[in-house]
Amino acid sequence: MRSYMLPTPPGPIRLPFIGSLLSIPKHTPWKDYAEWSRRENSDLVAIQAFGQLSIIVNTKKAVRELYDGRSSVYADRPQLMMNTLLGWDFATSLMPYSNEWRTQRKIFHQSLNSRAVPVHHQIQLEKVELLMKWIYDDPQEFSLHIRRYSASIAMLIAYDYNIEPHDDHFIKISEEAVNMISNTVSPVGIAVNAIPALRHLPDWFPGAGFKKDAKRCDALTAEMQDAPLEYVKRSMAEGTARPSVASAQIELNNAQAGGAAGEKELKRALGTFYAGTDGALTVSALRTGLLALVLHPDVQQRARAELDQVVGRDRLPTFEDQPFLPYITAICRETLRWQVVLPLSLAHSPTQDDVYAGMFIPKGAVIAMAILHNPEDYPDPESFKPERFLTTKGALNQDEVQVAFGLGRRNCVGMHLANSTIWIMMASLLATFDITKAKDEYGNEIPVDIAYTDSVLSTSLPYRCSFRPRDREAEELLRRIDRENHN
Ligand code: HEM
Repeated sequence: MRSYMLPTPPGPIRLPFIGSLLSIPKHTPWKDYAEWSRRENSDLVAIQAFGQLSIIVNTKKAVRELYDGRSSVYADRPQLMMNTLLGWDFATSLMPYSNEWRTQRKIFHQSLNSRAVPVHHQIQLEKVELLMKWIYDDPQEFSLHIRRYSASIAMLIAYDYNIEPHDDHFIKISEEAVNMISNTVSPVGIAVNAIPALRHLPDWFPGAGFKKDAKRCDALTAEMQDAPLEYVKRSMAEGTARPSVASAQIELNNAQAGGAAGEKELKRALGTFYAGTDGALTVSALRTGLLALVLHPDVQQRARAELDQVVGRDRLPTFEDQPFLPYITAICRETLRWQVVLPLSLAHSPTQDDVYAGMFIPKGAVIAMAILHNPEDYPDPESFKPERFLTTKGALNQDEVQVAFGLGRRNCVGMHLANSTIWIMMASLLATFDITKAKDEYGNEIPVDIAYTDSVLSTSLPYRCSFRPRDREAEELLRRIDRENHN
């Protein structure tokens, strides 16, 4: 039988023209997809809207087979009209599998591979000390501090740029542009992606408001590519630049004309770095990690017992301690699994027709995945249980929760940086603070909900919590950090 005669993966009823649009869940759709997959007893399920087929992969087995086993077929990204309209098509993460993508990916790989990231540890250690100081001085604003911590690490590594304490211009641009692309899973976004001709609607036409937003975002993404690179070039010309990913790449470009990336690729890769640097992805994970600690005093207690034994009480943990702190690492892995930052990952697209388990996957389909809450791999998936990642002897098991960063040729190039930024923050917070629910003016605990946004990038809604130095020794350590850091 010819492959296109096989059925596509099961899914909700498809109506003429709009397909299964009405059945696409509005809230936490990844949970429904996982449920459909169990109900249909199928690794893959599908939805179709306006003729565009989207397939969601729900098991590790299937995702490994497709993304790793058939990696050359699944290394492409769907080219979505909304991405182009918003000016986001420059980004390494969204562009087609092509020579330009290879050149950009190489720039990331050179500076962020597992051997290169330890070069940046010093920056992370300095910034985590500052984070402890900021939280100690002004605990109410913890959410802003976490964001500043994550963005300042990435901006220093990428451009040797020190962000402003408040309202940094670069960070504001990237935050707005990331929000705009993150919201393209709306029905309007889905419709424009499926029927690109909708972009020609006149601006006044009902529902065409997306065009105005797109123009705004296009200007922001252009600035994201130009502004940081210009900043580095200027400081190199003035002789004030210290080493950064950007300055190293500019030097490489100057040294080997035509050999390294061209100006355009460099601009685009560094612009993508910058998009990742506003830290939206890492910040989302950091906020989840903290939320988990607030809700699980028992986890804090066990982590502290481990920390006290390995690190002692007169300093913050360092990366050298990491191999001896498996429970802290397990907390970080569970953080990435429990509330997945990109719950459907970034979409892949097959470059040719394919078949999986008797189901037809047409060339050009949009492929997403939602597997970190599959109860077969992670029993009781909604509960936060770091011990899932430990052997019975307390050592880390083999599951590095890599799937949270994707698989195959398009997996996340920032994962080592993100993992270390998360780890050192969680270890340092646990070493110094007791983190509890905040209390209202009458001394009653303020409830903390586990509530997340429904966009491509899922992030917790604001919550309140309280930070108190664990005890006298922790208070002394925090005071010392406070005295030694003046910014
Ligand atoms: C907790 C933080 C992060 C998470 C959970 C995360 C997750 C992901 C995921 C799921 C993908 C898609 C993988 C796939 O398609 O199979 C991805 C791609 C990517 N990530 Fe991350 N990421 C994080 C942080 C970062 C950081 C800090 C950077 C850069 C500094 C970064 C840069 C990228 C790039 C460039 C891609 C696209 C790779 C490509 O298409 O070739 N990420 N990330």
